[in-house]
Amino acid sequence: MVYIEEFEIERQKEIAFSLREQTKGKKACVITFGCQQNENDSERIAGALEMCGYEITDDEKTADLIIINTCAIREHAEIRALSEAGQFKGRKEKDRSIKIGVCGCMAQQAHRRAQIYKSYPYVDFVFGTDMHHRVPEIIKEALSSKKRTSFITEKPHNEFGVISEGMPVRRESGYKAWVPVMYGCNNFCTYCVVPYARGHERSRRKEDVLAEVRSLVESGYKDITLLGQNVNSYAGGCTFAELITECAKFDGEYRVRFMTSHPKDASDELIDAIASNEKIAKQFHLPVQSGSSRILKLMNRKYDREKYLERAKAIKSKIPEISITTDIIIGFPTETEEDFADTVSLVKEVGFDMIYTFIYSPRVGTVAAEMEGQIEKSVSNKRFALLSDIENEIAQSLNEQFIGKTVRVLSDGFNKNRIPCGRSTQNRIVTFDKPVPAGTFVDVLIESAGAYMLCGKIV
Ligand code: 5AD
Ligand code: SF4
Repeated sequence: MVYIEEFEIERQKEIAFSLREQTKGKKACVITFGCQQNENDSERIAGALEMCGYEITDDEKTADLIIINTCAIREHAEIRALSEAGQFKGRKEKDRSIKIGVCGCMAQQAHRRAQIYKSYPYVDFVFGTDMHHRVPEIIKEALSSKKRTSFITEKPHNEFGVISEGMPVRRESGYKAWVPVMYGCNNFCTYCVVPYARGHERSRRKEDVLAEVRSLVESGYKDITLLGQNVNSYAGGCTFAELITECAKFDGEYRVRFMTSHPKDASDELIDAIASNEKIAKQFHLPVQSGSSRILKLMNRKYDREKYLERAKAIKSKIPEISITTDIIIGFPTETEEDFADTVSLVKEVGFDMIYTFIYSPRVGTVAAEMEGQIEKSVSNKRFALLSDIENEIAQSLNEQFIGKTVRVLSDGFNKNRIPCGRSTQNRIVTFDKPVPAGTFVDVLIESAGAYMLCGKIV
């Protein structure tokens, strides 16, 4: 059963309410690593904790309950999460009543759980990626039990993963929101841990997604991102193109975007939907991973260089103002200078607005981790630096085309340097001259451009 039954959700809510006496005056903090899906999961965990009676805080130092939501996509993310967990050793020694939990993609993996169990004895509980609806029960156990607890399902990929509706969400922002449309992944790219950590692909019902988007728009949200590992395989009652078109039909000025799509099935229907609908943001994140067809085959990506270039050209020709961004992995096993040169030439040919470049990180249990021909770190680092320089030039010249044009911007208030800033429909960062409340649309005349920022004056 993919859907969690309503009576189970009701049971969790009753448990949450029953904890309120015990949690009165207590604070909880959720620390998040990783992708937007994790950020959304954390908002759901925080919603459940609030229902249990906790006050949510960003300050882990004053929290009575700390949950670390981890990411396993690359080793770097795992090391950061473990070192975060390590920080609580001293506090826990001073105050045994503090509860510490670990969840997310690392907690889902048996070898990491074993490591946490052995080396982090002050972690009180762990729970997996299909347990968010059970947070009240997990907290009840943690508060009442002296033993360390673990809420994990270990099922084969095609059975692992659930959908739960009806639990509260505590959103970080009052004008930007994540809305998951599907969970999990069936693609098994050979480098990727996601199918193991998040289970099989499953889609939320169209009516549930639309109800959530409608209520967000009605409460003043202006930028809504539909989330999924591969939104093009959405199967909750219509195609993804139909779903996003429906999401863009509510009254008022707002934007709806999506993250992420797989090039193998980036459909003409979706491109047409973006092109013809003002409210669908002009941004297409289309991870290519490599420009070499040989490497793409080893990655099990199910498209080659030519097919990717054809899709990117179709997008650009139908939506001239689109921003195409991508993910690239450097140093996949056996990547030669020639393969890397193919990546460089593809990057130049497409003209990406931004690339997120990652050095390949072997993941336990994936096919690529066992491949011969792992690449030296120093070689990958060199390729990484070269690609960054090339992309900086491309991004700079794409951004310069905006000078003299007026761009519609959704204000984010201020950036870290206290300069008024916001985002364009392409998700470009735009700074401007006068402060505007976050969540308000303004028109900005662009006067100058950097590689990753436009600057202008409000008109
Ligand atoms: N090593 C490096 N990068 C990876 N990604 C996924 N798995 C790995 C890995 N093992 C990157 C891909 C993906 C992005 C979210 O993370 O580029 O699109
Ligand atoms: Fe990982 Fe590939 Fe699925 Fe993306 S499509 S989550 S890279 S397995």
